[in-house]
Amino acid sequence: MSASLAVNGLVKRFGGLLATDNLSFRIEPGESVGLIGPNGAGKTTVFSQIMGEHRQTSGTISLDGEEISRFSTPARIRKGVSRTYQVPRPFTGLTVADNISVGHMPDSVWEMITRAGDRDREVELALSVGFAEEDLGRTPAELSMGNLRKLEMARTLATGPRLMLLDEVFAGLTAAEISVIGELVQSLRAEGMTFLIVSHDLKALEPLIDRAIAIDRGAMVAEGPYLDVIENPQVRASYLGAA
Ligand SMILES: Nc1ncnc2c1ncn2[C@@H]1O[C@H](COP(=O)(O)OP(=O)(O)OP(=O)(O)O)[C@@H](O)[C@H]1O
Ligand SMILES: [Mg+2]
Repeated sequence: MSASLAVNGLVKRFGGLLATDNLSFRIEPGESVGLIGPNGAGKTTVFSQIMGEHRQTSGTISLDGEEISRFSTPARIRKGVSRTYQVPRPFTGLTVADNISVGHMPDSVWEMITRAGDRDREVELALSVGFAEEDLGRTPAELSMGNLRKLEMARTLATGPRLMLLDEVFAGLTAAEISVIGELVQSLRAEGMTFLIVSHDLKALEPLIDRAIAIDRGAMVAEGPYLDVIENPQVRASYLGAA
């Protein structure tokens, strides 16, 4: 189930802006790593490049030792990479259950036939991320931010990932909702899922990660145990600089 990720010399330019500046890091199978940095540091842009939504200017991205940085996004999803979005992106016209089922796009007609009418999996996924039965028929407009973030998690899980990239999954949540998502991450970690997690909520992030990577202006500032990273003078200065 676990996947390893290697990012090597990644560079992303948006016109004159260097959004990713020669970034290199590795995540071992089953590891959970926090990616932190001030607003605009380039965290989401790293995710977009790992997913293939933005093509890197240069550098490589490898999954389990295989370079995936020229693959299409659907090909990367089939390899087991998935992400959630900082701003939840449900299909507004679909119910919770249907949003989860379209997260899993069948690769073949055979799969479509064998899966036809198989709603148990969607229901199971929805319940596993903390939805109540009565939420399954609701549309996104009727959901709280906590439920929208649960839906992001369920849609991501529906693709059968081995590496999950979580972008600000705690933003806008109550303490109770944070603990539901946190427990879900912990149970997936116990099953061997590999994680890269972006969060401004460091208190929620800390128990979920094995180590942290701090970036600023697209470049690595510090990498290592969480406490060492957040106490690093350069990391502290980068957060203050952004305030
Ligand atoms: N599609 C784009 N076109 C041009 N510039 C972009 C694009 N996407 C991001 N940027 C710029 O790249 C930089 C990094 O943005 P990014 O969204 O990756 O930061 P972030 O660390 O996720 O910030 P936040 O904590 O606010 O979510 C910012 O200066 C941003 O304005
Ligand atoms: Mg972001």
